[in-house]
Amino acid sequence: MRTNRISDKVHYIGVNGRSANLFESLWPLPQGVSYNSYLVVGSEKTAIIDGVEVSYALQQIDAIKSIIGDRCPDYLIINHMEPDHSGAIRVLREAYPDLTIVGNAQTLAMVKGFYGLDVNTLAVKDGDQLVLGDDLTLKFALTPMVHWPETMVTYLEQEKTLFSGDAFGCFGALNGAVVDSDMDTSPYYPEMIRYYSCIVGKYGQFVQRALKKLEGLEISTICSTHGPVWRDELDKVVDLYDRLSRYEPLDNGVTIVYGSMYGNTERVAEAAADALAQSGVRKIRVHNAAVSDLSYILSDLFTSAGVIIAAPTYSDSLFPPVAHVMEAMSVRGLKNRHVVLIGSHTWSPQSVKKMSACLETCGLELTGDPLSFKQAPTDDVLGAARSLASALAEKLVNRQQ
Ligand code: FEO
Repeated sequence: MRTNRISDKVHYIGVNGRSANLFESLWPLPQGVSYNSYLVVGSEKTAIIDGVEVSYALQQIDAIKSIIGDRCPDYLIINHMEPDHSGAIRVLREAYPDLTIVGNAQTLAMVKGFYGLDVNTLAVKDGDQLVLGDDLTLKFALTPMVHWPETMVTYLEQEKTLFSGDAFGCFGALNGAVVDSDMDTSPYYPEMIRYYSCIVGKYGQFVQRALKKLEGLEISTICSTHGPVWRDELDKVVDLYDRLSRYEPLDNGVTIVYGSMYGNTERVAEAAADALAQSGVRKIRVHNAAVSDLSYILSDLFTSAGVIIAAPTYSDSLFPPVAHVMEAMSVRGLKNRHVVLIGSHTWSPQSVKKMSACLETCGLELTGDPLSFKQAPTDDVLGAARSLASALAEKLVNRQQ
């Protein structure tokens, strides 16, 4: 059990997940993840905001009891229904039969669909308020598709605190402290980029819409559902989410993603990396797509302004690990990158065709014509790859950051 005071009236009652290897059974969690939940105690009513994953339900209940004893919390406010936050609600309702579940119409339909609960619920709309006493009022704003259609945020007016759901969240368990001012936050930033790229990355336009909607709010604290509570570094975090959701590269580096069965395409990728370095690119990230985890590749693709993709033809199509990466780029609608394509084949030049088709769906800008080569790379092929990389470097060096 853990509780932390965020203010006199807002308490942290979340948990750390350090035993699951994967988030959503997809994304590695080398530093764990936190499932943040909060208890807001007003002069008359008490509200839990956001829940925890089901296996941590008893921890959450113990945390609640340590703050309000045997009193029943009045409300459970659900900003987001993904089961990492809603999984424990049936256990909560069994512990607290009088607990009123608060959500918008889509949320409450999901509460019934996932957990069969449809009594003692309170439906709220965009802009509605919930009074917890003469000292505290909660206000709701719908922010669909950040990250599911039902997502909303809750604003505690008197404390200028935004309970933001997944927005501004990151991977990484909380190592003791909860609020950013009490910890070294540096490990959380790479994990925020990786979290965004994997989980929210497809929904950039909706994140932008939500940011615009919240623009007029005075916010001094952000309580998201994953990672630290942001107070001192709030501006930095909002700026990072703003840039990521505008698909704005975070630096002028290059991410090289390649596949290679017997080392021929790898030699070309290495030659391109060498040419980039010689042309002054300092941030060069290289991934063998068959070895690197997709989440780290996506994170680097969302970071770099330049991208080089190199892959062989396989079964008359694109080498599967690289095809997987390109599909993930396309699903997320990655934009605003300069891209070089290099394809290899033994008898049928399919890889370049498949990569080009995928790039078209993304609307990404090609630097030079795709390079296609047969069997082992000749000196001419290596030279052509170096020239493409140098042309890419020139674009990046001249790019404003
Ligand atoms: Fe942390 Fe979309 O759930």
